[in-house]
Amino acid sequence: MDKIDIAPPCLLVILGAAGDLTRRKLMPTLYAMHIAGHLPPSFAILGMARSEMDDAAFRAAMRTACETFGDPPEDAGWQSFADRLHYQTGNFNDADAYRALAGRVTELDARHATGGNRMFFLATLPSLYAAIATQLGAAGLVHLDPQGPFSRVLIEKPFGHDLSSAQALNHALHEVFREEQIFRIDHYLGKETVQNILVLRFANAVFEPLWNRQHIDYVQISAAEHIGVGSRGGYYEESGVLRDMVQNHLLQLLALVAMEAPLNFSADRVRDRKVDVFRALRTMLGEETYHDVVLGQYAPSADGSLPGYHQEAGVAPDSVTPTFAALKVHVDNWRWQGVPFYLRTGKRLAKGCAEVVVQFRSIPFCVFGEEQACARIAPNRLVLSIQPEESIHLEFATKVPGNGLAVDTARMHFGFNDRYPDAPPPYQRLLLDALRGEQLLFSRADGVEMSWHFITPILEAYADGIHPDARPYPYPAGSQGPVAADELLAQDSHNWQRLGGV
Ligand SMILES: NC(=O)c1ccc[n+]([C@@H]2O[C@H](COP(=O)([O-])OP(=O)(O)OC[C@H]3O[C@@H](n4cnc5c(N)ncnc54)[C@H](OP(=O)(O)O)[C@@H]3O)[C@@H](O)[C@H]2O)c1
Repeated sequence: MDKIDIAPPCLLVILGAAGDLTRRKLMPTLYAMHIAGHLPPSFAILGMARSEMDDAAFRAAMRTACETFGDPPEDAGWQSFADRLHYQTGNFNDADAYRALAGRVTELDARHATGGNRMFFLATLPSLYAAIATQLGAAGLVHLDPQGPFSRVLIEKPFGHDLSSAQALNHALHEVFREEQIFRIDHYLGKETVQNILVLRFANAVFEPLWNRQHIDYVQISAAEHIGVGSRGGYYEESGVLRDMVQNHLLQLLALVAMEAPLNFSADRVRDRKVDVFRALRTMLGEETYHDVVLGQYAPSADGSLPGYHQEAGVAPDSVTPTFAALKVHVDNWRWQGVPFYLRTGKRLAKGCAEVVVQFRSIPFCVFGEEQACARIAPNRLVLSIQPEESIHLEFATKVPGNGLAVDTARMHFGFNDRYPDAPPPYQRLLLDALRGEQLLFSRADGVEMSWHFITPILEAYADGIHPDARPYPYPAGSQGPVAADELLAQDSHNWQRLGGV
């Protein structure tokens, strides 16, 4: 194993260690990293939440979590992992709890020889992020000296719920941490195929010369889910699809597709270019928003087997929270002028999948003469598939064997998992990068704010569904989404790539 695959010595402090994220994702990932040898001996984990537990009860709860959501632990492997786990009861609103935490941190630093390195993982309610950061600072738990042991903070989305709350959160974080110490997770960026967008573009000479308005007709970016809101109805009511998916995952994908070449592959130079894309997004204001944005909400499926959004637990019976969004987005810069970027995401759609479709322009003139052959020449398409399959395929015209000239569309296909079956899971990659201090895959404060700068006016135009055009269109659960989303593209004589194939 390479040195970069092993975390440095560290005490990982999980604030919110009795919650869903810790159980479902964080602990199974850490256990898998332990078993695979990614954690050094001088690495320990301290959980904190209000639930009353001692170390033994915490270890038992975490074992159950790993059994339920990860690889079932084996006794020997589990025992050595459990020795790293500790727990401290405390309320995040109580300054005394942070003093007690500081004492425990000092003790565990010494016991596990972590060298004073620490990472705070905020796995709790986003409304508590700012207060927790302030309290960590006040309790002297954060070291600022870049030459000394590191102190870092890792937070999960949402990073605010609009532009001003995102600015306020960044401000509160910056009162305590330098930007280099802050790691904002967008788990889409941990996916190898997402990272590969930059390699495809900037490590190959054949694509980049075509990657502009002269040769690309339009781009589609989709992230569809087959599942509904499930048990997270209460959270979703506050969030809705624009905050849950578009502001973060879809805009991150758009930035990777649209950005200029960075000066080099360092975190800040790559993030500089991504922020340029966010700055270039054309702001939608007032009623013009309704022309370029279609929101939807799932209704029961046609056969009644899937519930509608209104039937989900925690959802108001008259809720106008959107569960689907389709947007036509313009990137106002030299490279992309006139090229629409169509974004689409939603819950309870026909299929769970995420992909980027780059549609090239049609050939300028058909030399084959025969009308039938010319009519069958489809424009080239490059499809970067992120989920469920991780693959790239290029569609191109080919001759059908035989007399005469019949043209067909062929597919050149590269399956990521066939070639690299052992790629690390996204969450592991992100955790390891954060522990190593590598920020490339994490969002920077200005990027977060610029993406909210684009999304906030759309949220305002649709606030509360008051305007008659602002009510989400119903679509049957398990379908392709509302018809209005098809019409959005039909106006430009384009079609969505069908979810689940042709
Ligand atoms: N769950 C997921 O799969 C998922 C996915 C993506 C992002 N996220 C994000 O991850 C974060 C955490 O989500 P979650 O689903 O894990 O939430 P959760 O299940 O509600 O967990 C919240 C945790 O915070 C603790 N807590 C709440 N108030 C506290 C207080 N005043 N003092 C001390 N502890 C307190 C809770 O434990 P006690 O009640 O014992 O105090 C619990 O451990 C959120 O930002 C969420 O948006 C979650």
